[in-house]
Amino acid sequence: MSSTEWVVLEDEGGKTYLVELVKDTVKIKGLGVFNPLAELSGKAVGEKVTIGQKTLTKLSPRLPEIYRSMKRRAQTISSKDAGLLITRLGIGPGDVVLEAGLGSGGLSLHLARVLGNSGTLITVEMRDEHADVGLANLTRARDCLLEFPTHHHISGDIAELNEDIIQSFGQLDAVILDLPDHKSAINAVAKLLTAGGRLACYCPVTSQIENSWEACEDNELVVEWAGELMERQWGRASKGGIRPVNGPFGHTAFLLIAHKR
Ligand SMILES: C[S@@+](CC[C@H](N)C(=O)[O-])C[C@H]1O[C@@H](n2cnc3c(N)ncnc32)[C@H](O)[C@@H]1O
Repeated sequence: MSSTEWVVLEDEGGKTYLVELVKDTVKIKGLGVFNPLAELSGKAVGEKVTIGQKTLTKLSPRLPEIYRSMKRRAQTISSKDAGLLITRLGIGPGDVVLEAGLGSGGLSLHLARVLGNSGTLITVEMRDEHADVGLANLTRARDCLLEFPTHHHISGDIAELNEDIIQSFGQLDAVILDLPDHKSAINAVAKLLTAGGRLACYCPVTSQIENSWEACEDNELVVEWAGELMERQWGRASKGGIRPVNGPFGHTAFLLIAHKR
């Protein structure tokens, strides 16, 4: 954790801002110029605060708030899919987990939360402009969360991974791939999985899941589960009652989980 405190501010539209309580004046996009320590210290969680023209509510920086406030560039894996990936891969404290590509770090935030101090997170990203965003989000999460894993970042193509580097971290308990081409990545990392470890692929289109399935079998990984998760949110109806909200019932991705036996 950092020596300074972080808080989350939520505006009336539900947009959140992660703010470090520094004593200097800062400029935050959407909030303008203000002095966080002077304006926010001493305010209780749930208390209203006025910054410029905006009325905001002070919140604690827990995982849902950190995720909602994150900087975004590449498309992120949502909490819906992160939950399934973490539970089906059985990820928890002490594990060594490799993730590619890092992108904006949406999934990494969830992994960091469950790995805690005893876990190891290895992120791989071939585009530095994406890694800059993902690593900034992870740095903020490290400052906010009580525990954070040992983190190693590798800049480059997962298919050309230097095996010696990865092996120096120990065998991998889990691998999660969110890439356009899963096959070459599976070919590169399957051998680094520990016996009993699992690999997951996040595949926006069907051809990707089919290719991933074949690549897993070619590498003697047993496909344990493949499919997608549908999420339908409910809310209060304007004339009373509770019902599904009018909104997208969208596809995020097909997920595949494979087991090394
Ligand atoms: C959709 S984004 C990942 C988003 C991330 N899972 C999240 O939740 O924020 C896919 C990322 O994979 C990276 N990428 C694509 N092919 C790669 C490869 N062969 N090796 C490493 N990174 C790669 C892209 O640059 C991109 O940043």
